[in-house]
Amino acid sequence: MSPAIFNNPQVVAKGWYVVCPSRHIAKKQIQSFDVCGQRIAIFRGVDGQVRALEAYCPHMGTDLGIGDVVGNQARCFFHHWAFDDTGTCVNIPCQKHIPARAKLQAYAAEEKYGFIWVYPDAIAPKPVAEFDELKGKDIVAIADRPLSRKCHHHICMMNGIDAQHFNTVHKLSVEMDLTLSRDATDGTIDFTMSGDLPNNNWRSRLGRQLLGKSYTYSMRYANGCIGLLTMLKKSRLLPPLHMLYAYSPLPTGETNIQPIYVTRQRKGPFGWVANHFLLLVTRLCYYALRGEDGKIYDNIQFEPKSLLPIDQPLVDYIQYVNQLKRSCWSIESETP
Ligand code: FES
Ligand SMILES: [Fe+2]
Repeated sequence: MSPAIFNNPQVVAKGWYVVCPSRHIAKKQIQSFDVCGQRIAIFRGVDGQVRALEAYCPHMGTDLGIGDVVGNQARCFFHHWAFDDTGTCVNIPCQKHIPARAKLQAYAAEEKYGFIWVYPDAIAPKPVAEFDELKGKDIVAIADRPLSRKCHHHICMMNGIDAQHFNTVHKLSVEMDLTLSRDATDGTIDFTMSGDLPNNNWRSRLGRQLLGKSYTYSMRYANGCIGLLTMLKKSRLLPPLHMLYAYSPLPTGETNIQPIYVTRQRKGPFGWVANHFLLLVTRLCYYALRGEDGKIYDNIQFEPKSLLPIDQPLVDYIQYVNQLKRSCWSIESETP
């Protein structure tokens, strides 16, 4: 039997991993990045479309990131072999015959939320995950500075569904009778938490003013590497607030986390003000909780030995991660 995927640094699950802001790759530019321990060349053709290939040229191993883009092809700096978006070598200047081995692994690439994302396979079964409330709508997305945590991303991703710590760490004395709905299909799982807000400290009282007596929020996990958080789902004053966390493992065993705030794009000058006000409130909600969690995830040696009934979302999450698919970026291959 294969070892578990959850919290296993040898395995990279199939999913969309964030690479860089879209604006970093202009038309006819190419650059290489380290993503999940792989060197990936990202380039934008003359048609404006972003493409991704494994970076090291099959001729002698030059990094394609120092090459250039000709039309919609990536061209190696060293001897000018050119590759299309399937990774097939289509031109070798010194000879007509192209050997069969002159081929690179191609990866699916997509632009969403102002970033370029890459998937560890030539074709991705689904696009980068979305919020239900924003599907098919124009959106505005603003990135915050990325941060790192000294643990595997599967561990720090569980923060949003750890019900006990809202009370103990964040002093948000939410009722513990959370209703939990989950739905695990196609690499995503949704958790919806709701309950009543108490009235016993300033944070709770402020929350009651903003939200009403009860609160609902949801956390969608996509492929164990993106967390989509929707807050204030039933607020009297504000529309739902959205942010996502894009997680990627670093070679050190740490996790890089890219926070991105997202809202529906409202038109006109008032719309602009509303968009940026809501993005600011989302950021402040995130900042209010972020620092308090940091020292946990920078020190944890995660080993769940005696989980309680209230930890059931964590158990569900671990099971969900363990049924994800391993990608070709994993060090550890599948064994029967
Ligand atoms: S090393 Fe790339 S073409 Fe020779
Ligand atoms: Fe937290």
